[in-house]
Amino acid sequence: MGLGKKTVEELDVRGKKVLVRCDFNVPMKEGVITNDNRIVAALPTIKKLIENGGKVILCSHLGKPKNGPEEKFSLAAVAVRLSELLGQEVVFANDDEVVGENARAAVAAMKDGDVVLLQNTRFRKEETKNIDTFSKELASLADCYVNDAFGSAHRAHCSTAGVTDYIKDTAVGYLMEKEIRYLGNAVNDPERPFTAILGGAKVADKLNVIDNLLEKVDTLIIGGGMAYTFLAAKGYGIGKSLCDETKLDYCKDMMKKAEEKGVKLLLPIDTVIAGSFPDPIDAPIDVKTVAADQIPADMEGMDIGEKTRELFADAVKASKTVVWNGPMGVFENPTLAAGTLAVAKAMAESDATTVIGGGDSAAAVMQLGYGDKMTHISTGGGASLEYLEGKELPGIACIQNA
Ligand code: 3PG
Ligand code: MG
Repeated sequence: MGLGKKTVEELDVRGKKVLVRCDFNVPMKEGVITNDNRIVAALPTIKKLIENGGKVILCSHLGKPKNGPEEKFSLAAVAVRLSELLGQEVVFANDDEVVGENARAAVAAMKDGDVVLLQNTRFRKEETKNIDTFSKELASLADCYVNDAFGSAHRAHCSTAGVTDYIKDTAVGYLMEKEIRYLGNAVNDPERPFTAILGGAKVADKLNVIDNLLEKVDTLIIGGGMAYTFLAAKGYGIGKSLCDETKLDYCKDMMKKAEEKGVKLLLPIDTVIAGSFPDPIDAPIDVKTVAADQIPADMEGMDIGEKTRELFADAVKASKTVVWNGPMGVFENPTLAAGTLAVAKAMAESDATTVIGGGDSAAAVMQLGYGDKMTHISTGGGASLEYLEGKELPGIACIQNA
């Protein structure tokens, strides 16, 4: 499948100022970056632009600051880590207004191959509302624009989309290209049989994903908290398990759609239950396994059972392409991680193209040590979900065509 967008490879940047939107929205604990995957994933584009003699001006959001600048959402630590990874200085332009005195001075002093990082774009309230004033200010710093922030591509914000109203020479970066190729090919041009595995707590988060994937897959596997609403829709008693009463008809419709389309829809056949949710989440817990239609009224399903793990693993083994989004159970608890682990293991051991759609499933796969065994782990959570829904992402749509 052709990408259809101009890429960083085709952008002439020598001597030019290039504004690059990255997704440096990394997890932090007390000012320390706890996982730098997203920074590492941005390196190929940044290195290419340095090598080609561009003046590289990086920007990103971090977290969800609601009322302007806040120290805990500063990108200062990202500048330090990035500089270590690049092996060259990254000048941090620490302006509360993002495009301020420091940013302007730093950019004016840049030589070809230099790197500047702007402060958190969400320190400006215009950012998430995509208001022109801030888009114009960002654009005033640069001659061309590269979007490499796949994780934020589902947001139509100033720095991810609005800025392209004022900078016309635009391209996608390598990370964006890679994400589109893996997710796009998996979903739109998969080697068959094609299996999608969906989990996570809420059916409501995956309504359009299920609907869209039923048009494309040979097998759809549903596990995790969201599976109980499907089991309830089949008429099973599910005890205290998660259930979205408002989505029962939706689940019935989807089961009907699967049947009509000849898609194999696999739901849990047994489940690991407990009396109440672990608190804290990794606290020791007493569990037992019952058939999916035998959950007692006072118990709650928290992971897929052993027979289900086998059923799902067999489906993975029989596939040539597997896309997975959402854990099978409360994987943060060692007693309740077995279902998620079994799926990760089956995918890791298969020869199929295996794609992990960001967020919790990416965290689970890495936590369980299977990170390097997958074909592709997306850096996008919400973005990869919207991609699986078949939606056009504003951060990609705004880039000029090739
Ligand atoms: C993410 O981590 O989901 C992306 O960086 C986008 O962040 P947001 O959900 O705060 O817009
Ligand atoms: Mg998000």
